[in-house]
Amino acid sequence: MIYRALRRAFFLVPPERIHTWVFALLRLATALTPTRRALARWLAPRDPVLATTVFGVRFPGPVGLAAGFDKNGTGLKTWGAMGFGYAEVGTVTSKAQPGNPQPRMFRLADDRALLNRMGFNNHGAGELALRLTRDVPDVPIGANIGKTKITPPDGAVADYSESARLVGPLASFLVVNVSSPNTPGLRDLQAVESLRPILTAVRAETSTPVLVKIAPDLSDPDVDEIADLAVELGLAGIVATNTTISRDGLATPGVDQLGPGGVSGPPVARRSAEVLRRLYERVGDRLVLVSVGGIETPEDAWERIISGASLLQGYTGFVYGGGLWAKHIHDGLAQRLHDGGFASLADAVGSAVR
Ligand SMILES: Cc1cc2nc3c(=O)[nH]c(=O)nc-3n(C[C@H](O)[C@H](O)[C@H](O)COP(=O)(O)O)c2cc1C
Repeated sequence: MIYRALRRAFFLVPPERIHTWVFALLRLATALTPTRRALARWLAPRDPVLATTVFGVRFPGPVGLAAGFDKNGTGLKTWGAMGFGYAEVGTVTSKAQPGNPQPRMFRLADDRALLNRMGFNNHGAGELALRLTRDVPDVPIGANIGKTKITPPDGAVADYSESARLVGPLASFLVVNVSSPNTPGLRDLQAVESLRPILTAVRAETSTPVLVKIAPDLSDPDVDEIADLAVELGLAGIVATNTTISRDGLATPGVDQLGPGGVSGPPVARRSAEVLRRLYERVGDRLVLVSVGGIETPEDAWERIISGASLLQGYTGFVYGGGLWAKHIHDGLAQRLHDGGFASLADAVGSAVR
């Protein structure tokens, strides 16, 4: 496979640098309308069976780019052409911030995984708002918001509200990120006493659908509590999951020397799928479940759909799988939908447990 050779070359370059280069190349390739259209004709999901409408937004396909790849929305016109059904941009914070010192992104090649402690490096919600106003995307764009590092815990509600005010009205949906392991104290905001005022304030700030993104490291009772809270507050859905702080079962040597951070890719897949199944059992169709974490193959994607996910996302799978990754997953899903006699994606959601 051509990408395997290309990937070997890419992997000679430090991960954050090659990310910047490849992202720039993708933006360049999709900057001109004719090339963007040609790429979209090749890669974008076109089979109507893949299209789905959830929380009032129409998605041409269920596979989206996960948060963190396009932190500032500089590729708004890129993701549809690269075959994604949508993209979640961010995390942005109310104020621009540099993130953690480099190096802060590492490949765990033997696990086809990544470890990162980026720490929400971003240009701020205000700049994302400008981009969302200027660059009209061809697929839905969700905006993921987090807490500014220097904001103390008792300022969290105001900080999230400010970001929601800036980007909420311009995005197709808003994701409240309380699950990154790389901002000190952030994951403590998942405790329902802390989460309730944040989600209430964000909901009050915008009529855009609001979802909350949770960590795979939550206990089962905590997952249940958040699910109940999300239903009670009338959220649109839950994005599950972020990266894990667990280092269990990793094959890559020397991981302990890399320092703290969240692990993504196959090592998080099992727990991510487990959290999805738990959520679906708890909330059924009352919330839209977005599954992310270790999705690599069409088989993985199909498993998540029939377990209750209406939308899917990937980051690490895209990095290891290459530019055709989203198309490959969409094609595989379309095949399974037709083989299973499903008239639409929505009919397959949760079908393994219904
Ligand atoms: C380098 C990197 C940066 C990330 N940055 C963010 C972020 O800013 N906000 C967020 O909610 N998730 C972030 N994530 C988590 C992903 O969105 C996703 O939840 C996680 O990686 C699991 O999916 P995957 O196995 O497909 O990568 C990041 C992941 C990686 C690898």
